[in-house]
Amino acid sequence: MSATARKTAPLPDDIRAMKGVTPIVSLTAYTTPMARMMDAECDVVLVGDSVGMVLHGLPSTLGVTMEMMILHGRAVARGLHKAMLVIDMPFGSYEESPAQAFRNAARLMRETGAVAVKLEGGQHMAQTIAFLVARGVPVMAHIGLTPQSVNTLGGYKVQGRGAAAETLLADAIAVSDAGAFSVVLEKLPATLAEQITAAIPIPTIGIGAGAGCDGQILVVDDMLGLFTAFKPKFVRHYANLGAEGEAAIAAYAEDVRARRFPGPEHAFADKVPEA
Ligand code: KIV
Repeated sequence: MSATARKTAPLPDDIRAMKGVTPIVSLTAYTTPMARMMDAECDVVLVGDSVGMVLHGLPSTLGVTMEMMILHGRAVARGLHKAMLVIDMPFGSYEESPAQAFRNAARLMRETGAVAVKLEGGQHMAQTIAFLVARGVPVMAHIGLTPQSVNTLGGYKVQGRGAAAETLLADAIAVSDAGAFSVVLEKLPATLAEQITAAIPIPTIGIGAGAGCDGQILVVDDMLGLFTAFKPKFVRHYANLGAEGEAAIAAYAEDVRARRFPGPEHAFADKVPEA
């Protein structure tokens, strides 16, 4: 069913059932107005830890806290009725042990209303994913370029080229076998993403992984042209809101300086006009 025709938000099983049937549409959101804007079109809305870089000006996602995720998660939840809300587990909130992961995943779901969590990692996170799923926490996995590991991956590089492809395929199979309901494939060769998509029974959601995935996700500020610090190759600008915003602010500043704003239509009369 198309997102616009749907009356209620899908559940993880509905997303899983979309594999091979219809492409999954997903974007990130961090605020209520943005969530409202995408609710009717998206199947999945992710409160990504990219919020740290996009809205808070952090140099990476490593400084994102549980409190930040909860604040933005609540804001996004208020704007959604038709899309499924997934929330990222921030760096340091799940890697220590399955018990730590469950404690923090439960807090994220309880305090935001998110239906599922996303966490980064392949084979080494499989045990944690199985632990969470067995305890009622639906998990979206995330493999390939995992930004929380930027310092061990040596930067925001394409992953899975050459011999590393085998490891990524094994990662995808491991998270699928562990019970994840879907997996984000970030920044890997399109041919490998296609191979992974064919090899596992759960949907793959690509970002910089080519057109062969079961769905796509983008950071909303990237595709709207609002985040312009840098433009990854895999982003298409569907609007140029950053440039439009700058032009609008410059026009406002000029109007204020020239006393052209406010106009009479923006001012209040001394007497209430008669009806
Ligand atoms: O944090 C994020 O926005 C993400 C998406 C890029 C998948 O993880």
